[in-house]
Amino acid sequence: MPEREFRYWPELCDPEGIDYALVWQPEPGLLTSLPNLKLIVCLGAGVDGILADPSLPRHVPIVRLVDPYMTDTMSEYVVLQVLRLHRQDLDYRAQQRAGEWHERAQKNACERTVGILGFGTMGQDAGRKLRMLGFDVAGWSRAPKDVPGFATHAGAAGLDAILARSEIVVCLLPLTAATDGILNAGAFARMPRGAAIVNAGRGRHVLEADLLMALESGQISAAVLDVFCEEPLRPDHPFWRHPHIIVTPHVAAETHPATAVSIVREAIHCFEAGLPLANRVVPARGY
Ligand SMILES: NC(=O)c1ccc[n+]([C@@H]2O[C@H](COP(=O)([O-])OP(=O)(O)OC[C@H]3O[C@@H](n4cnc5c(N)ncnc54)[C@H](OP(=O)(O)O)[C@@H]3O)[C@@H](O)[C@H]2O)c1
Repeated sequence: MPEREFRYWPELCDPEGIDYALVWQPEPGLLTSLPNLKLIVCLGAGVDGILADPSLPRHVPIVRLVDPYMTDTMSEYVVLQVLRLHRQDLDYRAQQRAGEWHERAQKNACERTVGILGFGTMGQDAGRKLRMLGFDVAGWSRAPKDVPGFATHAGAAGLDAILARSEIVVCLLPLTAATDGILNAGAFARMPRGAAIVNAGRGRHVLEADLLMALESGQISAAVLDVFCEEPLRPDHPFWRHPHIIVTPHVAAETHPATAVSIVREAIHCFEAGLPLANRVVPARGY
């Protein structure tokens, strides 16, 4: 964006001179210290790191990054991990380490139920790609929605229904007051025995102690986790070496500067032209 002058925090020189803030997890108090701020552009899809700031200037609009490149990346991650769980890859890796030749009964994808919590931009794209592979996919959102080809559920009653039907639960929710800790002992108990989870939303969606207990009891058979309550995951965290957990270091869908730049430029252009802002965050909703 050569047409713009950029300042890089913490060397902002004069805070009065900043019109637009491009941020992901800004230090609390930073945004309110910019008196002429006009627009906040989130450099990621999730805005929990911005909305967590109690001093956030509420009159400044926020837009988040919705980049088809990132959406594709997330779908790759989800498809990879669902296939690993579906094809019992963790068990076969353990058998390989033990030098054990043992064929496991295998379902077809059309017999495998997948439930996606958070059926928005990323959830629906991942859902379509899983469906192309034959999986029986359902989605859960806040507001009821009709998405052709999918069973859809919404709200608290819908959560019970999707958990009860899903052998693999994929979390692609934003972190809000309503979704914090949503994958807890109660949720695990409502899933079919031996169900697995993939969490690429936010770490706080999963109650870590509840997950370890559910894995211990066999209620949950495996978990693929990309996000954690504390990142980086501390070296002595039990998740690292758990035989039924796959850990990835928050890489499911990283921001891709080469494609993100035109989206950021367009957001600022729309703001300056007085046009409606795409992907505007609703702070009261939390996403
Ligand atoms: N691990 C990574 O690398 C990575 C990368 C990018 C994003 N993410 C995570 O993925 C999340 C989703 O991104 P997105 O672009 O798909 O967001 P999105 O388009 O806003 O979709 C969010 C979905 O969650 C649903 N939802 C929100 N609150 C809910 C509630 N209380 N109950 C039920 N459903 C609820 C929304 O329902 P409605 O459709 O009714 O609004 C919507 O379907 C981000 O917020 C971020 O946390 C992770």
